[in-house]
Amino acid sequence: MDYQSLLADRTTLMKVNAIREILKVVSRPGVVSLAGGIPSPESFPMEIFRELVDRVLTRYDSGAFQYDLTEGFLPLREQVSVLLKSRGITASPEAVHITSGSQGVLDAVAKLLISKGDKIALEAPTYLGALSAFNPYEPTYVRMDMDDEGLVPESLEETLKTHKIKFIYLVPTFQNPTGRTITLERRIRIAEIIQKYNALLVEDDPYSALRYQGQDLPPIKTMAEDHVIYVSTLSKIFAPG
Ligand SMILES: Cc1ncc(COP(=O)(O)O)c(C=O)c1O
Repeated sequence: MDYQSLLADRTTLMKVNAIREILKVVSRPGVVSLAGGIPSPESFPMEIFRELVDRVLTRYDSGAFQYDLTEGFLPLREQVSVLLKSRGITASPEAVHITSGSQGVLDAVAKLLISKGDKIALEAPTYLGALSAFNPYEPTYVRMDMDDEGLVPESLEETLKTHKIKFIYLVPTFQNPTGRTITLERRIRIAEIIQKYNALLVEDDPYSALRYQGQDLPPIKTMAEDHVIYVSTLSKIFAPG
């Protein structure tokens, strides 16, 4: 069967996925890959995992395996709401949407927001997985400037002034791939700018809980609540699989 001839046109926009290539290498014995944000398997607290699985089965019984609200299992959304509170974000459980990792949100955001030719403003360079999620919907990209303190706010303002931007995609803390973190002063400025231009920001925050030194910085979501879709994940602090 020639499956190639059956593929949808949009698949021609799906390039060889760099993350898939990285993950192929990661599973080889003896390889410690620094190419992706892959937790060390020794960091998985297996005893705690066993206890938690047992607790879930005791508490929720068959409910743990049943279809449920598409937005996600309510007790989990309640706990995510508590976790968000610790990051300064007020979100009721009803405002929380659970997906398979943050990649699932990026896919959903792309499907819901991007029409062919829409402009997305990005840090350059940016996270490959986000581009993989966005590309099939045929956006165009506007690259914004970064320096050691992260996104340059003037570049954001210039971009919003000169282009009709559908949304801005940023990884403000420990950005992938540069590792840069946007300073507090710049976060405040960015929040002001997106409010001034009535722009939407997709704030991808997988790494802020992995801070080992220095001050935690508030998500931009806390400064421009209505203008930000905040995306986070348990892949890096609990387990990705
Ligand atoms: C910036 C960024 N966003 C999203 C993800 C995807 O995270 P998840 O494993 O939860 O899909 C990663 C993973 O490396 C990432 O670096």
